[in-house]
Amino acid sequence: MIIRNDFGEIVQLLVNIEVEGRTVYTMALYYADGLLIDTGPLSQRQDLKPFLDDLEVDLVVNTHHHEDHVGNNPLFEERGIPILAHPAAVPLINDTSLWTPQLLYYQRFLFDLPPSSKCQSAGDYIDGRNYRFHVIHTPGHSMDHIALFEEQNGWLFTGDLFRSVKVTHLRKNEDFDVTMASLENLLNYDFNTIFCSGGKIYESGRDKLREKIEWSKNLQASALQLSKAGLDDNAIRDQLLGAENLMGQFTEGDYTKLNMINAVLNSSFTAGEKRE
Ligand SMILES: [Fe+2]
Repeated sequence: MIIRNDFGEIVQLLVNIEVEGRTVYTMALYYADGLLIDTGPLSQRQDLKPFLDDLEVDLVVNTHHHEDHVGNNPLFEERGIPILAHPAAVPLINDTSLWTPQLLYYQRFLFDLPPSSKCQSAGDYIDGRNYRFHVIHTPGHSMDHIALFEEQNGWLFTGDLFRSVKVTHLRKNEDFDVTMASLENLLNYDFNTIFCSGGKIYESGRDKLREKIEWSKNLQASALQLSKAGLDDNAIRDQLLGAENLMGQFTEGDYTKLNMINAVLNSSFTAGEKRE
């Protein structure tokens, strides 16, 4: 099910993927100033197309190469609309067969395999109709991830780098330290509102970003304390984040709380302290 939400000049298309009538995954596309930020998963093409057709898209920007963000690029490629991404994402979007064989069952089931599409490197800035968007390299969730910052309105589009404040699950191939460094780097930009690919919009974005960094540091400090007290990683997870839920099982261990505990325990993010 697709829901369109309008926030002033910005359009959010909320993509809810349902299994047996229950929403199991939500992501958001954004339209701002002629730019379409991400195109959603191929599995939702039929439902998304009428909503996308209503938008006057001049340019597509992919925040990163993941299958739920690039799946409908061909709809725009067919119309001759340029598609931009970080230079590291370009080969992966141009030829998705380079990485789709590694996708797990849940990714194929929920999103379908994304088709290849012709994509170009984004420079440091992308000009919309009225505004200029800064392209900020924000690796961590993936090495080719970018955020878009528009100074006049204080907009910051954070893709999958910032989906919520309290992130309890982590994908196996996400780099926690690099993510935290990217989040801290974003504080150097004068933004107000954060638009997340998970669908959340935070009007007090700076406070939320600080809160997120603080929450992650506290999680790490608590995990280290419990580790020093002799608890194993599973026990630390149970105490700090609770037992795994169905997500861990459904994603074959790709997206779990234990991955998050492992990551914070092996991280050097907080004041250089690390598990010995
Ligand atoms: Fe992603």
